[in-house]
Amino acid sequence: MQKPRVFITRRILPEGLELILSECEADIWEGELPPPREDLLKRVNGIDGLLSLLTDRIDAAVMDAGGQSLKVISSYAVGVDNIDLIEATRRGIPIGHTPDVLTDATADFAFALLMAAARRVLEADGYVRAGHWQTWGPSILLGAEVHGATLGIIGFGRIGQAVARRASGFTMRVLYHDRQAEHRIIPADLHAEPVDLDTLLRESDFVSLHVPLTGQTHQFFDAHMFAKMKPSAILINTARGAILDQTALYNALSSGKLAAAGIDVCEPEPMPMASPLLTLKNLVIAPHIASAGKETRQRMAVMAAENLLAGLRGEKLPHCANPQVYQSG
Ligand code: DGY
Repeated sequence: MQKPRVFITRRILPEGLELILSECEADIWEGELPPPREDLLKRVNGIDGLLSLLTDRIDAAVMDAGGQSLKVISSYAVGVDNIDLIEATRRGIPIGHTPDVLTDATADFAFALLMAAARRVLEADGYVRAGHWQTWGPSILLGAEVHGATLGIIGFGRIGQAVARRASGFTMRVLYHDRQAEHRIIPADLHAEPVDLDTLLRESDFVSLHVPLTGQTHQFFDAHMFAKMKPSAILINTARGAILDQTALYNALSSGKLAAAGIDVCEPEPMPMASPLLTLKNLVIAPHIASAGKETRQRMAVMAAENLLAGLRGEKLPHCANPQVYQSG
């Protein structure tokens, strides 16, 4: 019997790739960068399954190019804002994604950014390398205290809660705001207090963003939000760049209305080298690596492969981002 044909838009870790190769005829995009749009559209032609990354825009044109044979799309990410879920559901195509496995790695990294921005770790490193370290001094590189501070978490799903858990080790007071809170079970041992958004912004020393990118959250963190924060506050974003108005972030950081920020995500990615944000010392930025723990990325590869293979066999995906697809048909 002929093996199903799949296109994989970047070489994923072998733990997942080998599972796919054992059952499929795989075309792998070997570039370091994502396939350009024309290549993506060409390479999906007539495939049975697609394994894509968050850097690929998966819309109706890609699904059209895939044609009738396209049974499943598996994304190597938990966030699926790059995929037209409504269109996929309409066509009966299940979309796989990788929830849970990257929760802890992402929360670890949110905390790493929080610590680095608060205690000026990058500035300290630069200070030593530039030869400025001449002696111990009472006021060299003073930063914000983390222990005992108030952390406000916006979006209290898996990752937001995992950040709260880390905060308890630093004896932080944790506030959260979540529009989905009534649908969630919030463990009591997190000692996290639900508050309205204004209270969270007003009282927090650190604000960490953990909402998915949707029509409602696009650029929701804007100048009005910054205006409500303490000037000594620090903002952390490991969710998606487009939830934040970057001009407002620059204005807040450069005018002293916000003390510092740590961001792993931006819009667009990569951040253009001409961005004024890159001139600021009080910004810590990373290239979207919050989930980049070795074991985490292996588990994501396996999960993405399992979703793909299940879809090809006509089985329910173990982790499906559009479960409605199973109700319609
Ligand atoms: C995801 O999976 O959505 C993450 O952003 C990848 O790090």
